[in-house]
Amino acid sequence: MSTNKLLIDARELTKTYQMGEIKVHALKSASLQVREGEMVSIMGPSGSGKSTLMNILGCLDQPTSGDYFLEQIKVNDLSDNRLSEIRGKRIGFVFQSFNLLKRTSAMNNVELPLIYAGIGRRERQKRARSALEQVGLGDRFHHKPNELSGGQQQRVAIARSLVSNPAIILADEPTGNLDSTSSMEIMAIFQRLNLDHNITTIFVTHEREIAEHTKRVVRLADGEIVVDEAVKDTRWIYK
Ligand SMILES: Nc1ncnc2c1ncn2[C@@H]1O[C@H](COP(=O)(O)OP(=O)(O)O)[C@@H](O)[C@H]1O
Ligand SMILES: [Mg+2]
Repeated sequence: MSTNKLLIDARELTKTYQMGEIKVHALKSASLQVREGEMVSIMGPSGSGKSTLMNILGCLDQPTSGDYFLEQIKVNDLSDNRLSEIRGKRIGFVFQSFNLLKRTSAMNNVELPLIYAGIGRRERQKRARSALEQVGLGDRFHHKPNELSGGQQQRVAIARSLVSNPAIILADEPTGNLDSTSSMEIMAIFQRLNLDHNITTIFVTHEREIAEHTKRVVRLADGEIVVDEAVKDTRWIYK
């Protein structure tokens, strides 16, 4: 077993939603450990609990029961303020719909988390430039989202997720809005970040093709983790 640092230690998480008279058991005793340097895909049919799990792992929501430790810190005891602080510093998010500010440049979009973190302008710009260069957008600093392709917009979003040096990046269907060529470019970037910079990523995906480009697959069914296994022959685009 790997001795890499344990980043995520989720123990018997449950999440129950009360819908009037009915209880919806969105997660049923799901346990998951993720170590530094992993690339994990979470798969499963619609309604199986993927978003519920990601929201808890991303400190956007709390479990009904069970313990969640993020970098040894027990997250489900924390106040909302501490939770959002941890979220801002330790977790990077990439969404299917990019979630960029439309009227502002790639640079400004990537700088935004650093503005919230109170980091000065010079340092911000240096880090934003470096993050954009890491995703191959060194020549697109001043382009606005509508002047970029979908794949390029997602690369801006990846740069934004990287810029605060998070412990882990959570990507919910990051290629869901992209054609297959752009999807593979995005997976190549995540693979390069993983191999060269040891960036840890968790993906939610419906697509087997995407999961095959990661190192481990966790499959949810009806709120339970039913499969958790290494990908036998990870398809490396970037080597
Ligand atoms: N806020 C909510 N209130 C009530 N039920 C919810 C809520 N969010 C999710 N659910 C239910 O929990 C189950 C799991 O949902 P979700 O985690 O979104 O699944 P997935 O992302 O795999 O499609 C579904 O039955 C869904 O209807
Ligand atoms: Mg979902």
